Amino acid sequence: MNTKLVSFVLTILLSDFVNSATFENVTVLLTTQLGKLFLYGKPPIAAIFIPSSETLTDYINHQPLEVVTIRNQKIPKLVENSLSNLSNIVHLSIISSGVTELEPGTFKNVPKLDGLNLEGNLIKEIKNGVFTGLQVKFIYLNNNKISIIENHAFNNMTLTLISLNNNRISAWNTNWFLGSPVGSIYIAKNLLEEVPPHAFDFGLKFKRLNVPLTVWNVVLAQNRIKKVHKDAFKHVNGFGYLSLADNHLQELPPEVFHSVKNINTLDLTNNNLGHVSGVFDDININQLILLNNSLSCFPMEVFDISTISYVFVDGNPFTCVCVQFFD
Ligand SMILES: *[C@@H]1O[C@H](CO)[C@@H](O)[C@H](O)[C@H]1NC(C)=O
Ligand SMILES: *[C@@H]1O[C@H](CO)[C@@H](O)[C@H](O)[C@H]1NC(C)=O
Ligand SMILES: *[C@@H]1O[C@H](CO)[C@@H](O)[C@H](O)[C@H]1NC(C)=O
Ligand SMILES: *[C@@H]1O[C@H](CO)[C@@H](O)[C@H](O)[C@H]1NC(C)=O
Repeated sequence: MNTKLVSFVLTILLSDFVNSATFENVTVLLTTQLGKLFLYGKPPIAAIFIPSSETLTDYINHQPLEVVTIRNQKIPKLVENSLSNLSNIVHLSIISSGVTELEPGTFKNVPKLDGLNLEGNLIKEIKNGVFTGLQVKFIYLNNNKISIIENHAFNNMTLTLISLNNNRISAWNTNWFLGSPVGSIYIAKNLLEEVPPHAFDFGLKFKRLNVPLTVWNVVLAQNRIKKVHKDAFKHVNGFGYLSLADNHLQELPPEVFHSVKNINTLDLTNNNLGHVSGVFDDININQLILLNNSLSCFPMEVFDISTISYVFVDGNPFTCVCVQFFD
């Protein structure tokens, strides 16, 4: 072998070796949100530099600050156990740090962890076993490149809020959230085309006899949704805020809200709805937002059979006489 080739191969081996630690030249900020500890009138902040380590454990376990933030660093891959054994940590953020991959088992033995923020990275896939079973309440995964979420990705968690805005998700799967009490789902700015049947059935486990199933916030705005299946909201009794704004809806099936009795705000702005006959019969809605659709009429008779406090219809090509009521 000639020496050039040898040194080339060595360089590759070495650079591979050099880059192998998960946290290399990474600065970690630590602070507190308990509101109890003050230094010069402010919560203390500590910065810790990690030259090279496979885990954060040794660097952050021996100090009292419970909020960890890593921002604008270079962490291409979070490997198994890299964020394990963090006994005091309550909030953990790794933001805009080029994370492309999360290995199953990344988070283990994090007894106090309440929330995770992994926004602004390059994550493509959420595998089963990364978050599955983790006892956290919220996860922010906005502004990544997620196109694949495996079947059990968010199962059996204490998760109540998940935010997946601005990713590449093209199909909704109710199995994602089985066994988790998720009440707020933000999945705006993705590539969804349909709200499938029984989308919220994951919540049935929590719907005990005579206890209504309410989903608080569901934001599906800015997708490519053409179809909401007639059984999409089956078993859901109420929504706080449901947004399907900025999609491609031309109609909604008349049965779609049959089990839904209450919606605080329903936002259907910027779709192509041509009619809504029968859709809002027998329902309580505080604000019904139908701005910028293709309605030529609003079926006034719904006010006899439903309780709808406000309907916003600017930007529709109304032709029929009912428009006078809105002048
Ligand atoms: C970390 O810093 C050291 C010293 O400056 C440098 O030799 C090494 O290449 C850096 N590693 C990474 C992954 O940037
Ligand atoms: C975490 O703690 C367990 C038990 O104390 C230990 O067996 C394991 O090696 C630790 N893992 C890491 C990544 O420190
Ligand atoms: C979730 O919990 C149920 C009941 O304990 C169990 O049968 C199921 O296998 C768990 N799912 C996952 C993906 O761990
Ligand atoms: C409705 O459409 C008009 C004209 O395209 C636009 O300027 C306006 O921002 C839209 N309204 C909303 C609430 O998006």
